[in-house]
Amino acid sequence: MTKVILTDKLNEKAVEILEEAGFEVKVAWDLPKEEIPQIIGEYDAMIIRSATKVRGELLEKAVNLKVIGRAGVGLDNIDLEVTMNRGIKVVNTPAATTNSVAELALTMILASTRDVVKGTNAIKENPSVYKSMKKELFSREIDGKTLGLIGTGRIGTSLAVKCKALGLTVIGYDAYVPENPVVEMKSSIEEVVKNADYISLHLPLTNETKHMIGKEMLYMMKKGVVLINCARGGIVDELAAHEALESGQLGYYCTDVFEKEPPEPENPLLQHDHVIISPHIGAQTEEGSYRASVQAAERVIEALKSS
Ligand code: 3PG
Repeated sequence: MTKVILTDKLNEKAVEILEEAGFEVKVAWDLPKEEIPQIIGEYDAMIIRSATKVRGELLEKAVNLKVIGRAGVGLDNIDLEVTMNRGIKVVNTPAATTNSVAELALTMILASTRDVVKGTNAIKENPSVYKSMKKELFSREIDGKTLGLIGTGRIGTSLAVKCKALGLTVIGYDAYVPENPVVEMKSSIEEVVKNADYISLHLPLTNETKHMIGKEMLYMMKKGVVLINCARGGIVDELAAHEALESGQLGYYCTDVFEKEPPEPENPLLQHDHVIISPHIGAQTEEGSYRASVQAAERVIEALKSS
């Protein structure tokens, strides 16, 4: 019987779909990750999210592995050179979590604009500041402002549609897609960052994009700009972002990702009032997880049948 192991948390529907298709399914998402290499040799396919790192010892021991299903978008936790050389198929679910990530980026835009996290923290810590916070919190409207997108694929486009409905002008740059039906495309990143009140990143981490948002780019932006990173840690140089926050050049840094996850306790961004953090939950809505789990199961079945 063909055996499939699920090593990261998926919706139970994935188990149901795989079992109905006649596969033996091992739910191993509660198993410590270091134990997976000891059992992976038995399995024909595995389904993961971002927590399982499919490289090194795990891949060496995966002697029967034919298919890896990634419930989600990023393939940066898989050694694609090794899988390609060994003919292991890798399938993912690129569209399943688009809306979830776009909604988180929108949350960051709204939360930073009304200073809600800073207000919540201050009042919880000391309720007597309630009245003084009313004056202190920085507040404006998003209506009439400009959102700059770096990366205008599925997520960037979904965010653009939502933001246009809220009265923002949306401009963008994408190294691979020069046109977009809802975004006013610019011919360079510089043209976007110089003209936006909010900048949202929607691109993968590669050698080209590592620290793309560094000191030089940060100081090209409008003073007080809000930078949103629901893409990948490492695209933004965190120390440069901290320095720009301290100087007031950067108004807010809203991030769902860090260069090192979890971030080191001494990462200065953790102490800054104008940093909003979520722990890599962009894709993790109930709805997005359901779609990613179902699609990953279906794609793994298809790939196993054709291998
Ligand atoms: C992705 O690449 O799909 C996102 O970063 C989400 O990762 P996750 O599967 O761990 O939620």
